[in-house]
Amino acid sequence: MNSGREIARLKAERGAVLLVHNYQRPEIQELADHLGDSLALARAAAGTDAKMIVFCGVTFMAETAKILSPAKTVLIPQKEARCPMAEMVDLRELEALKARHPDAAVVCYVNTYADVKARADVCVTSANAVKVVQSLPQRRVIFVPDRNLAAYCQRFTDKEIIPWPGFCYVHARITYEDVMQARQAVPDAVLLVHPECPPEVIDCADEVLSTEGMVKYAAASDRRSFLIATEEGLIARLRREFPAKTFYAAGTPRVCTQMKLTTLQDVYLALAERRYVIDLPEAVMQRARASLERMLQYA
Ligand code: 13P
Ligand code: SF4
Repeated sequence: MNSGREIARLKAERGAVLLVHNYQRPEIQELADHLGDSLALARAAAGTDAKMIVFCGVTFMAETAKILSPAKTVLIPQKEARCPMAEMVDLRELEALKARHPDAAVVCYVNTYADVKARADVCVTSANAVKVVQSLPQRRVIFVPDRNLAAYCQRFTDKEIIPWPGFCYVHARITYEDVMQARQAVPDAVLLVHPECPPEVIDCADEVLSTEGMVKYAAASDRRSFLIATEEGLIARLRREFPAKTFYAAGTPRVCTQMKLTTLQDVYLALAERRYVIDLPEAVMQRARASLERMLQYA
């Protein structure tokens, strides 16, 4: 096993920066130059001076980093780390849906591949979806791929949302019964829910937040205990960063298998062998970048 010290040495040698999503294994989180949610990491990718970005997350995130920082070498240490929700968009069906609703804006969740972002008017993340959707001039909105985030936007904007039937299997497994039982077990805890959760779980929430939003909320709150309805990697981060507070999974701890594929050895090999390089067609990147840049402007 290669130590964090060897990874740090290679990182310095290569002029690389390590961007790490909140659902990664704790030992990888601890090595991060930037640890965060999709929005924070997209911003870090756009703003970095480093020559190389090593993205520990899933492939659509590394693609986003490449689109926003095209001159940099972007590496994903584990190429099998693919988000199943991002795979749920069929391009031909999306084109057909657009043709049926020519007046609608196309909004894509950041959990999509570059070719979907290239076909969208604007991109959103869990941290800014409501704000961006509400800011659009169009009244109707095709929203891909997460039906739960679409339903959440439907509830908190005055738009007519046409949802794609995609979902995140990790958040879809967090049930109403789970959160109600957790609430009964720890009645004084604040319940923080990710907007990829089903609507009946969102209804129980004290706050609906992106993963980074949960970290900021826990930091600022004077409450002592928190029930967390999202993937367990974020709960590990909260426990590490706020040892005086108590964090419980809202129900059975839920794991994103794809997020956990990346190991320290993968990160070491990514740096040592410059693998796996994210490479996208220039035309796709240009159109996808327009969707991402519009998001950064609206948000
Ligand atoms: P955020 O960290 O942006 O809230 O996203 C959660 C998620 O499921 C990423 O795949
Ligand atoms: Fe995809 Fe859900 Fe895993 Fe995020 S947690 S990468 S949305 S499957």
